[in-house]
Amino acid sequence: MGKILVTGGTGFIGSHTAVELISAGYEVILVDDFSNSDKKILDQLAVITGEKPEFTELDLCGEAKVKEFVAAHPDITGVIHFAAFKAVGESVQQPLKYYRNNFYSLINLINGFNQKVDLVFSSSCTVYGQPDQLPVTEDAAVKRAESPYGNTKQIAEEILIDACAVTPELRVTSLRYFNPVGAHDSALIGELPIGVPQNLVPFITQSAIGKRGPVTVFGNDYNTPDGSAVRDYIHVVDLAKAHVAAIKRLESKKATSNYEVFNLGTGKGSSVLEIISAFESSTGEKLNYTIGARREGDVEQVYGDVTKSAEQLGWKAELDVNAMMLSAWKWEKYLKDNPF
Ligand code: UD1
Repeated sequence: MGKILVTGGTGFIGSHTAVELISAGYEVILVDDFSNSDKKILDQLAVITGEKPEFTELDLCGEAKVKEFVAAHPDITGVIHFAAFKAVGESVQQPLKYYRNNFYSLINLINGFNQKVDLVFSSSCTVYGQPDQLPVTEDAAVKRAESPYGNTKQIAEEILIDACAVTPELRVTSLRYFNPVGAHDSALIGELPIGVPQNLVPFITQSAIGKRGPVTVFGNDYNTPDGSAVRDYIHVVDLAKAHVAAIKRLESKKATSNYEVFNLGTGKGSSVLEIISAFESSTGEKLNYTIGARREGDVEQVYGDVTKSAEQLGWKAELDVNAMMLSAWKWEKYLKDNPF
């Protein structure tokens, strides 16, 4: 088994992926600059896995530092690159911060490995915008991004496509996540939003625990069965397992080309109101919510066709929205008793 570098390894998806890699028998080395995560996650990972993962504090925007790091770790066999800024609203306010961080880190990382590396890249269903056909397949048109954040995902994919076209030793898998939610079953790791959560599920759990006021449902006049917007929510533990599958596919040289892309979702859409009702029924908590206006930049509905992931990655999501809501709630309660 190889040693996998996980960038953004103390972040939400990175930390869950570290757990799944270790339980699949991989050695891991995590790097993070803690710009959107907490050092305590390393202790939490030690409790879950029984070993404190190897870790280096590193800002991937520093080209020389990245080269130094890679030179000092010749045993790394593959990379999963999560480290990136991801707040849609902030990216509109501070576009250069997003372009600088998300592109410098990606390019420095690839150059650090002299463009010879197996790399799994965190992309997003945001590249599809509002798709013409649902469920959306990987070959659907990429629509103009609604935010600089979304644009960093689109352009990063283009950078990777162009680099792979001329560099056979660079083997890349882009994974397009739908809406990652939930937390590890141990409730020791989960999402740690900074300030007021912009995403639905952390807002729901913070509202239910009394940290926030009522949830606002952004729009109930969409052309969907109950009028609220529809997304493909995916449990973060399922998502983490897909990264192990992607690394295995790269290692076993099963990829049909040196750039591949896969949707990671459940294939099933859920509306905002359905998510609220799944939260209430799975946790037994009553949620206060009101109906508000649509949020600017939101699409009406998006959910993924996950046939390619099932057939080629050999991966399928297993956990349903009830498991997602229950685990997110357990994590919120854990945080109340054990604040970070
Ligand atoms: C957004 C980004 C996605 C990114 C993800 C995580 C876009 C189009 N999507 O997803 O790329 O990976 O955040 O950062 O840029 N909602 C409410 N009330 C709330 C919050 C949300 O009704 O208080 C609704 C939204 O209108 C939406 C759904 O819940 O319909 C999900 O919203 P959210 O969790 O923010 O995710 P996305 O916007 O789908």
